[in-house]
Amino acid sequence: MSAAIASRIDEARLWERHMSIARHGATAAGGVNRQALSPEEASARREVTGWASALGLKASTDAAGNFFLRLEGTDPSAAPVLTGSHLDSQPTGGKFDGVYGVLAGLESVEAMIAAKVRPRRSIEIVAWMNEEGSRFVPGMMGSAAFAGAMPLEEILGIRDAAGVSVAEGLAAMKQACPEVPERALGGPVKAYVEAHIEQGPILEREGFTIGIVTGIQGKRTFRVTVTGEEAHAGTSLRRDRKDALLAATQMVQALVAVMHDAEDVVKFTVGRFTVQPNAPSVVPSSVVFSIDLRHPDSAVLQSLGDRIPEICAAQAGPCEVKSEKLTTSMSLEFPPAMRQLIGACAERVGVRSMEILSAAGHDARYLHTVCPTGMIFVPCKDGISHNEAESATASDLADGARVLAEALLELSRD
Ligand code: GLV
Ligand code: MN
Ligand code: MN
Repeated sequence: MSAAIASRIDEARLWERHMSIARHGATAAGGVNRQALSPEEASARREVTGWASALGLKASTDAAGNFFLRLEGTDPSAAPVLTGSHLDSQPTGGKFDGVYGVLAGLESVEAMIAAKVRPRRSIEIVAWMNEEGSRFVPGMMGSAAFAGAMPLEEILGIRDAAGVSVAEGLAAMKQACPEVPERALGGPVKAYVEAHIEQGPILEREGFTIGIVTGIQGKRTFRVTVTGEEAHAGTSLRRDRKDALLAATQMVQALVAVMHDAEDVVKFTVGRFTVQPNAPSVVPSSVVFSIDLRHPDSAVLQSLGDRIPEICAAQAGPCEVKSEKLTTSMSLEFPPAMRQLIGACAERVGVRSMEILSAAGHDARYLHTVCPTGMIFVPCKDGISHNEAESATASDLADGARVLAEALLELSRD
């Protein structure tokens, strides 16, 4: 029976839907800028809702702004099976990161409906709120709230660079999608499977279509604030200056020297650097920069991260520095049973699969604390992601959806 589901996956429809969603927040360079809770994300949600409503799926949202599309099972009281990812993007994001998980989930459900298979458990396709952590820091807020890993009150008060809070963003989303009813936050979940492009080069290089994700490498994030003093660029003496930019760049150099290994396993990124007053003739008075540190070995991740405050303090010179720990997520491993299930589904579909560790973060991290969780990767071109040039083939996307559909069917049966 289940081979019939995989055969109903429509490669062309899945591809066209990616292209269609990519119009919401399209950039001139062919990528997307679809920030969390923005009008662009709202219109993407509306388009996905249109496709889902035509299939009889019911949309809902929770207090954290997560967005659900539910195919009711024959036993509506049974804990649902969840699948999905996110519709927000990086400012120079691609067409597939996150979107694929949502559209592959929808395609899987559409395949079941076409095959006249009604699962016992309901299946819910979810777009988690603010996975990317670009507009609001930190990322994966919606799934963290769902899993009870971050208090909703704390999330609601977080502000973007323009001073707009998550609570205000949620109100704007509600206004843009007024017909979507609210549901309770959290609740029992039977299992979660997230499909995603790999965002790295391994599957393509090794010639595999499906990555059975073994786990997610650990990540710690920090915010460093360097405070100096504004002064005239022409008149102030060097010895009197408290140049926050000079101190901050020295900190970054010192950090890079330590957060380094010959094997290129440790990943250290300063992706945001904000200078005040950011005027050519004023000695900078303040710099705030972000740190994204990742490593698959939790002990190494912990000890490297713990060194950040002392390294920054040693480079502060006449300035003040404050290093704040924002998030700590240790490496995790998905349950063997979920990995076996995905492997068996790949075999049934007839596609080559390999086990792979996720170097990128995903909402599956938080769902892992709620229910048995697994992830399915498909290749992306040259491993490029968080880049407008991000690309994947229609055929790989469809194969991933076939494996997802099989896995969802199996999980929603018992
Ligand atoms: C997710 O987008 C990540 O940065 O890993
Ligand atoms: Mn993603
Ligand atoms: Mn991403």
